[in-house]
Amino acid sequence: MKCFLTKKLLIFILIIFVVCKLFETKFTYMSGKVDVLVGLQWGDEGKGKIVDCLSSLYHIIARYQGGPNAGHTLTFDHHKYILHSIPSGIFQKNCINYIGNGVVIDPIIFQQEVQTLQTICPWIFEQLIISKNAHLILPTHRLLDAAYEQAKGNNKIGSTLKGIGPCYTDKISRQGLRVGDLFLPNFKAKYQDLVQKHVSILKLLNSTVSIADLEQDWFNACEIFNNFKLAESNIFIQQMLSQNKNILAEGAQGSMLDIDFGSYPFVTSSNTTSAGACTGLGVAPRQINDVIGICKAYTTRVGSGPFPTEQSNLIGEKLRKQGHEFGSTTGRPRRCGWLDLVALKFAIEINGVNRLIITKSDVLSDFDEIKVAIAYRTNEGESTYMPFCLENIIEPVYKTFQGWQQDISHAKTKDELPQELLTYIAFIEEYTSTKIEMVSVGPDRNANVWLNK
Ligand code: GDP
Ligand code: IMO
Ligand code: MG
Repeated sequence: MKCFLTKKLLIFILIIFVVCKLFETKFTYMSGKVDVLVGLQWGDEGKGKIVDCLSSLYHIIARYQGGPNAGHTLTFDHHKYILHSIPSGIFQKNCINYIGNGVVIDPIIFQQEVQTLQTICPWIFEQLIISKNAHLILPTHRLLDAAYEQAKGNNKIGSTLKGIGPCYTDKISRQGLRVGDLFLPNFKAKYQDLVQKHVSILKLLNSTVSIADLEQDWFNACEIFNNFKLAESNIFIQQMLSQNKNILAEGAQGSMLDIDFGSYPFVTSSNTTSAGACTGLGVAPRQINDVIGICKAYTTRVGSGPFPTEQSNLIGEKLRKQGHEFGSTTGRPRRCGWLDLVALKFAIEINGVNRLIITKSDVLSDFDEIKVAIAYRTNEGESTYMPFCLENIIEPVYKTFQGWQQDISHAKTKDELPQELLTYIAFIEEYTSTKIEMVSVGPDRNANVWLNK
């Protein structure tokens, strides 16, 4: 009798399991998916290159936050392209590229980008769609950015001075102007109203710049939006998902520059982490599938702010030289240092990264030894957590690895990589409990080693 009941129970559980699986499969086939690609450090991890590599697997590449502070570099056929506002899928002829509501756009920079790209990507006018809800960066936003930085004296953020902070400030204080507003009859009045407010603040900050010329250029540049499809409502992405389209949400900056989770106040003004894709595109949290995290094999930072593993010495200089570490947007030299696993683990956790890609491992070739931070020494003892103030870290606790003296930039398979690098990779995987699926070994679109192939 007991055995009969157990058998019945088992059959019942089996049926429930099969029904659940069927529903799961149906759900998967019924709608497309959204993967999010995020930078896990202080930006410039090589996101542009990786989005370009992966873009053939997606119908849509969608930028969800940031603006022209971003500089995403793509290299193929011996040419290098730097994108600021346009998503990195633009070189794939059949890919739709979408600039989401969470992005801030400077019409002047956007127009310049389009002019540079239109010969090589003549499909840009059909394949690039812009959300009407994306906010506009005004000339006075740029002036305000510069004036605020000037007023900070020794505490400068090191902003890219593209007007990002002031533009997001106006968005949050509910007085910003959006791309869609350009087509409303009262746009000029709204514009003048906002500019007057900016001018009063600029006067308080003793900034005396004439805006007449800047304004003319800006209004001329705004004409560019007439050549593009503008997404009328914020359900564009939902419509695409219901048509089974696969979407890759492209993050800008890096997790340590996130307004909430970064090294505040030395951060940017948006949510750079994967959660930003929900608000910046109109995607529900349940619709996020994979989160792909991009991380350099070492660390760089451009601009001010704490950087526990920074090497202000010959090692830092060698990393900068071998990695060509100069800002893609501003040309500023990037600060360089060892990989910080405490910060990386934190970034992996807050983003929910389940797929990890390491870039620029080729830059570490020719180092006798390579270090990674595995903890921070503070006044309260050793810690493996990100503290409230990164400035309170006395020094990182390092683990040292043996380097390799071998050019890996032409490697195509795992067995062409030196054992020392594989040991380094295995340690990162173990520390972060995350599998590394690909190692990028050069700037070119094809310079990749997939580890599971
Ligand atoms: P993003 O902002 O994250 O897209 O990164 P950036 O484009 O600002 O900076 C990354 C730089 O590294 C660019 O110059 C890329 O061409 C380059 N790059 C990307 N991946 C690799 C790699 O694996 N090895 C080398 N040597 N360079 C790379
Ligand atoms: P990508 O997308 C690296 C940094 C600036 C500054 C701080 C605030 O190419 O990785 P902002 O202009 O946003 O007010 O500057 O953030 N920063 C970046 N650093 N890569 C970026 O973008 C960055 N975007 C902003 O240097 O320290
Ligand atoms: Mg960059």
